Amino acid sequence: KMNTFVANLMSKMTLEEKIGQLNLVTPGWGVPTGSVVSKGVEDNIRKGHVGGLFGIFGPDKVRLAQALAMNESRLKIPLLFGLDVIHGHKTIFPIPLGLSCSWDTALVERSARIAAIEASADGLCWVFSPMVDIARDPRWGRIAEGAGEDPFLGSEMARAMVKGYQGTDLSKDNTVMACVKHFALYGAAEGGRDYNTTDMSRIRMYNEYLPPYKAAVDAGVGSVMSSFNEIDGIPATGNRWLLTSLLRNQWGFKGFVVSDYTSVNEMIAHGVGDLQTASAMALHAGLDMDMVGEGFLTTLQKSLKAGKVTIKQIDDACKRILEAKYKLGLFQDPYRYVNSGRPEKEILTAQNRQAARETAVRSMVLLKNEGRILPLKKSGTIALIGPLANNHSEMLGTWAVSGDNTKSVTIQQGMQNVAGNSVQILFARGANITDDTSFAKRISPFGKPTEIDARSPDTLIQEAVAAAGKADVVVVVVGEAAEMSGESASRTDLDLPGSQRKLVEALVKTGKPLVVVLMNGRPLAIPWLNEQAPAILEAWFPGTEAGNAVADVLFGNYNPSGKLTTSFPRNVGQIPVYYNHKNTGRPFEGGAPKFKSNYLDVQNEPLYPFGYGLSYTNFTYDSIKLSRNTFSAGQSITASVMVTNAGDVAGEETVQLYIRDVEASVTRPVKELKGFQKVVLKAHESAKVEFTITENDLKFYNSELKYVAEPGEFKVFIGTNSRDVKETGFRLVK
Ligand code: IFM
Repeated sequence: KMNTFVANLMSKMTLEEKIGQLNLVTPGWGVPTGSVVSKGVEDNIRKGHVGGLFGIFGPDKVRLAQALAMNESRLKIPLLFGLDVIHGHKTIFPIPLGLSCSWDTALVERSARIAAIEASADGLCWVFSPMVDIARDPRWGRIAEGAGEDPFLGSEMARAMVKGYQGTDLSKDNTVMACVKHFALYGAAEGGRDYNTTDMSRIRMYNEYLPPYKAAVDAGVGSVMSSFNEIDGIPATGNRWLLTSLLRNQWGFKGFVVSDYTSVNEMIAHGVGDLQTASAMALHAGLDMDMVGEGFLTTLQKSLKAGKVTIKQIDDACKRILEAKYKLGLFQDPYRYVNSGRPEKEILTAQNRQAARETAVRSMVLLKNEGRILPLKKSGTIALIGPLANNHSEMLGTWAVSGDNTKSVTIQQGMQNVAGNSVQILFARGANITDDTSFAKRISPFGKPTEIDARSPDTLIQEAVAAAGKADVVVVVVGEAAEMSGESASRTDLDLPGSQRKLVEALVKTGKPLVVVLMNGRPLAIPWLNEQAPAILEAWFPGTEAGNAVADVLFGNYNPSGKLTTSFPRNVGQIPVYYNHKNTGRPFEGGAPKFKSNYLDVQNEPLYPFGYGLSYTNFTYDSIKLSRNTFSAGQSITASVMVTNAGDVAGEETVQLYIRDVEASVTRPVKELKGFQKVVLKAHESAKVEFTITENDLKFYNSELKYVAEPGEFKVFIGTNSRDVKETGFRLVK
């Protein structure tokens, strides 16, 4: 039916109208996410020169724009309406890096489901999410938007988000089309500098970086966004190997590919030629829709005449856009997502906020809790200090384009909500996020600048120390401004900004019990903090319910269960540091350090490894039992372990399974995550956790890029994080 409908429609379209479908514009009425905004949008819609709009939402605005296409364009082809709905639309969930630390796919799927409901209630049918770029360099600010360093976990998260957004029926009025991005390898930018070059071997791409995109494609994602970077010297947006050979021919992707913001035009700066050449190259590569730059709109006709592109290429791209509109049900009802009654009933509801709170508590990671200083008692006096402690502006984190800061709960409000009047809270700001005004301006050049308190740093610290002096315990909330991570927010210094470090050090000197709550969009390099502070809770940017969720964890209403999905380096020089590295021929395994793969001045291991996260209880693991020691294709092995909650309170543990292929035709990582399970255990309760391992779990891409499992020896590890594991082994036989 769809094919006939689309073919019939296309038979009526002029070349100009076909090319018009490939044009995605942003009128800048709402939220521009790049430096260029489109001109003459209304007129272009009338002429049939626009396929979709992004950056506007709200039923009334969307209706107006859709009506232009439906009433004033010749063929009345409905427009797509897209937006960056990254971790929630208006009810903001934790940043995606935080979400991934829940290791809870059902929870992540639910967050995407709620985002889809809110977005569709607000007129949108297309979201530029999930971002699934593997990132192993925390200097890169966009590490905040993905699921961290691991391809297995990244794939699980990618699938969950696609399912959450798209549901089972894309044409329903409360599901939206997802767009997996940024295809591909955007997270591997050299030096962690955004938009920088990537360069890696195919075998590494296939084994370590491509799996999450493929998982999204396998889950039926409707669209893909090409990335800004180059791959093998060819910009991704114009890379035919990437967009056609791999994505369509090998993976069988059937949806459409959209460029990133002006990334067709940016191919000129990459050095491929002028706009006409870049646009022809992109179309030929397999790009279907051009975001904002209008290279397709302004040059494809010329290129067709000059024989640089074919009509089949234009037709194919147009067909894919029309098919997306068909699948979304827009031809049946162009106003399907435009219902003025919905926003009030479906956006920022009490249930959505409750879901955001439940999600946020599960995304927080307890990094340290010496002397069991946490959870806090709901009595006495707490000095609540720090530039992020009573601050609505930073709680939502990066890429919350339609989130309303003023609707967020601050930490101070949350603590008062959760502990009530039995706790006295003394607030002092203590420091600015940064005292460097030029840095503060660079953080947010278009938006509201990070707030700066004009009082001197010493005055702020003295006030904080005085508050600490009157308190039983000090909670200091420090970290980054929301826009210190995210797009175009790379950093080379991953410590707390100096103003905040001084504050924390002054508070340590008071000798008061000190709890540090961190909010940041990337791993920080904070070994000094780990040494000096007895308790550290990584809260990421928790979203709309930030304060309530932080307070739930601090006061023990929720026993933290988050686990890191990205390693925390000891210093910037250690980067990249990730758990699933290769062994090298000279691994350092202790002993004499000379002529081994190590540093003179810092150990190889990160400060906190992948999979790490504490609880208010502690879990012990018995040794691993295997159902057999050898197996062959078609068979499986069960690896089981008894896990015990050895503490006095109930808790939730994520039991992690890792495998190492010890002998293979190509070198394999020292450990690879292959499974995880959550168990909820009462105090002193034990549970047997079982993993089934099949030949499929042992497969990898070999040097011919064939996906194979090779017979031989394997190690299997089960544990509470990637470092602290039980170990045994088995053999795969022919
Ligand atoms: O979706 C984003 C992308 O992640 C970065 N560039 C802009 C796009 C649209 O806002």
